[in-house]
Amino acid sequence: MSDHGFEAVRITDDVWWVGATDWEIRDFHGYATSRGTTYNAYLVMADKVTLLDTVKAPFRHEMMARIASVIDPKKVDYIVSHHTEMDHTGSLPETIRELEPEKVFASPMGVKALKAHFELEGVEPLKTGDDLSLGNRTLKLMETKMLHWPDSMVSYLVEEKLLFSQDGFGMHLASSERFADELDPAVLRSEAAKYYANILLPYSGLITGLLGTMQGLGLQVDVLCPDHGPVWRKGFDVIDWYGEWAQQKPTMKAVVTYATMWRSTEKMAHAAAEGLAASGASVKVLPVPPSHRSDVMTELLDAGGLLVGSPTINNNMFPTAADLLCYARGLKPKNLVGQVFGSYGWSGEACKQMGAELDGMGVERVGEPLRVNYVPTDADLVKCRELGTQVAQAMKEKAG
Ligand code: FEO
Repeated sequence: MSDHGFEAVRITDDVWWVGATDWEIRDFHGYATSRGTTYNAYLVMADKVTLLDTVKAPFRHEMMARIASVIDPKKVDYIVSHHTEMDHTGSLPETIRELEPEKVFASPMGVKALKAHFELEGVEPLKTGDDLSLGNRTLKLMETKMLHWPDSMVSYLVEEKLLFSQDGFGMHLASSERFADELDPAVLRSEAAKYYANILLPYSGLITGLLGTMQGLGLQVDVLCPDHGPVWRKGFDVIDWYGEWAQQKPTMKAVVTYATMWRSTEKMAHAAAEGLAASGASVKVLPVPPSHRSDVMTELLDAGGLLVGSPTINNNMFPTAADLLCYARGLKPKNLVGQVFGSYGWSGEACKQMGAELDGMGVERVGEPLRVNYVPTDADLVKCRELGTQVAQAMKEKAG
């Protein structure tokens, strides 16, 4: 038992999980992490003892204690940093100072990023196709530029058929169980979808390419070790899910999301949702607040329709609608049809502003923006319902 009560978890004969569990985190740079997360680091007990990634800075003591439960940390020969984002490198400089490894490796872009972040010198580059010999083990490197940073790479432990996939195939899920097959499959899919929608969605084309490359290389994966969430050792559902999500096929699911001040826009949202549902769409109605932007994005991952509503306040859309649209635009959801709606008192700029945002996202707009002065009448609500019907019809056509 280590001094701190933290122990490593054995993944295979020679590979140990030496990461950290962050039970408390509820906001990960704007993404609501309601189930916490883990920062996974792995120790390969090869001839050259190798640490793969580190953890967020405040968790260094936990990682060090887990390493110490396997081996004297001073005996770590190599450190490989797959990705510079600070949830994986925050403790790297101090770890290097303490362990004094023989060598530290990163991708060529990672070498630059580590210098920029921490003024780290002497990190050796590894590029796609390079094999890093650990003596009795071999680590094959593959850069995965823009999945999801330019420096990102993954590595494959040849003898154990084990893929260290970094952020890829990960999820924000803190658990005492270390393996996916010990956890509820519905929770796994839900958290993997949330991670994909909020981190990887803009890079779906690259994901399709990576899955094709893995298949083309005949890369057999017996164990999949991401840097967040559980390790997969059988039933690699997450790889199939990625194949599905990367396509972003048009579907008959619609998201109606809105901000409201005095519930007029809310009434419009409900009427539009009725029209969508009556025309065969499956509908999620998500007011912001209380719905979090990252949960709206998760619902958009497999949606074909998007209706966004907001009242006008001080010549602008409501701030929570602006927050959502700014966030969504960056994540570039595809294959959506939709429109905007909202109540207004006198100036009514919100619909124009939201419409421009939807156009920027590439949403195919159906019909006209629907504005209602102050409080919707019954006749206005009929129009909202008709907008829902129109959007559902367009979704049907797009989904084929
Ligand atoms: Fe888990 Fe992109 O860091």
